[in-house]
Amino acid sequence: METITMSQAAQFVDQKVTINAWVTNKRSSGKIAFLQLRDGSAYFQGVVLKSDVSEEVFDTAKSLHQESSVRLVGTVQADNRSTLGFELLVEDIELLGASEDYPITPKEHGTDFLMDHRHLWLRSSKQHAIMQVRNEIIRATYEFMNNNGFIKVDPPILTGSSPEGTTELFHTKYFDEDAFLSQSGQLYLEAAAMAFGKVFSFGPTFRAEKSKTRRHLIEFWMMEPEMAFVEHAESLEVQEKYVAYVVRNVIDNCEIALKTLGRDVELLEKYTKTPYPRIEYTDAITLLNENGFDDIQWGDDFGSPHETFIASQYEQPIFILHYPKDIKPFYMKENPNDPRTVLCADMIAPEGYGEIIGGSERIADYEKIMTNIEKYGLDPEAYAWYSDLSKYGPVPHSGFGIGLERAVAWLTGIEHIRETAPFPRLLNRLYP
Ligand code: 4AD
Ligand code: MG
Repeated sequence: METITMSQAAQFVDQKVTINAWVTNKRSSGKIAFLQLRDGSAYFQGVVLKSDVSEEVFDTAKSLHQESSVRLVGTVQADNRSTLGFELLVEDIELLGASEDYPITPKEHGTDFLMDHRHLWLRSSKQHAIMQVRNEIIRATYEFMNNNGFIKVDPPILTGSSPEGTTELFHTKYFDEDAFLSQSGQLYLEAAAMAFGKVFSFGPTFRAEKSKTRRHLIEFWMMEPEMAFVEHAESLEVQEKYVAYVVRNVIDNCEIALKTLGRDVELLEKYTKTPYPRIEYTDAITLLNENGFDDIQWGDDFGSPHETFIASQYEQPIFILHYPKDIKPFYMKENPNDPRTVLCADMIAPEGYGEIIGGSERIADYEKIMTNIEKYGLDPEAYAWYSDLSKYGPVPHSGFGIGLERAVAWLTGIEHIRETAPFPRLLNRLYP
């Protein structure tokens, strides 16, 4: 008899199998016990009929507590009423590990309580669904990048440079030197692009941001492509193709997860259509001012209400193009059509999820990069290696970064980014 996971149920209908699982809930009468089960791969029901099993097995079924672990023998049956579509008609139960007074009960719990119990909360079907979507985004990302000629290059986590400004850095000692935890691998990826053409990284990044919003984590994973010989407009095309590809794969491969989360798949379908609309920063400011937002003027960065309003004018993710120089990092190339701005874009997700991608064309001119290093108050010695890139065969190059957790929040349709990482690092939360 085979030991299977319930996610394989379709291949084993009407067959007798062994399944290792945990009990999430239980209901029993004199004649029948319904076990709600999860085995890591799926959530499903086990049915124990008193008339079909030994007295000992039926007693075991009735005595199980929430989160007891069990080895079950039973027959897989089709069951159209359940999300999974299958249940298990149980014949034998072996108790593997007991569990009593499990803190997370089927009743409602507050967020703080759940976050304190994150190590257990992960077992819930909602968290399982979110992590399935997260995993699919990661899988589809690697697939897209590999299919499109990118090679993965891993930038360092301990660094001496700070591409996104110096105010949000985690400082650490590096023997006798000062170091930071990486806030973006971009500068290293630019070097790698000059060596390998099209590269990407996918790894943890850190921002000591004192923002307590539903969009900010202190530690998050970023996927950053960097492309030599690619100008800004072409980078935007890569971005929309990539995002549409990820959405398509999430729809196709996370059906049960999306159902569990109650995600509106018709909305997601709209996000698989490209191109995505493009709107100039300057026009976005005008649009906001015309619609009663008098708290923002040309030169300011958008807050979330602004991004939400602009995005709500469209049905797809959008690009906001050409932000003012002064609110963007030192490495962005000037916009030849309006030198007050740079050749950059943020991709704004629909439904109030805000910025999911930041990207730009990079400066590829030695004099200009040196001027900016000084203008932004950066230490020229720490960036000497970076300035070499525009000394030895500089070429147009562009890249972008997508925040994995922002993408997960958007595609799962959940309220807060804290549920998108298995163990999120938030302001004031380092445990569990
Ligand atoms: O816009 P950001 O800061 O851009 C960069 O770091 C560039 N160096 C990327 C590049 O061009 N290679 O960050 C990129 C993305 C944001 O659009 C957002 O999705 C995510 O990273 N992000 C965060 N996600 C969660 N919590 C935070 N505190 C985040 N800060 C940025
Ligand atoms: Mg940004």
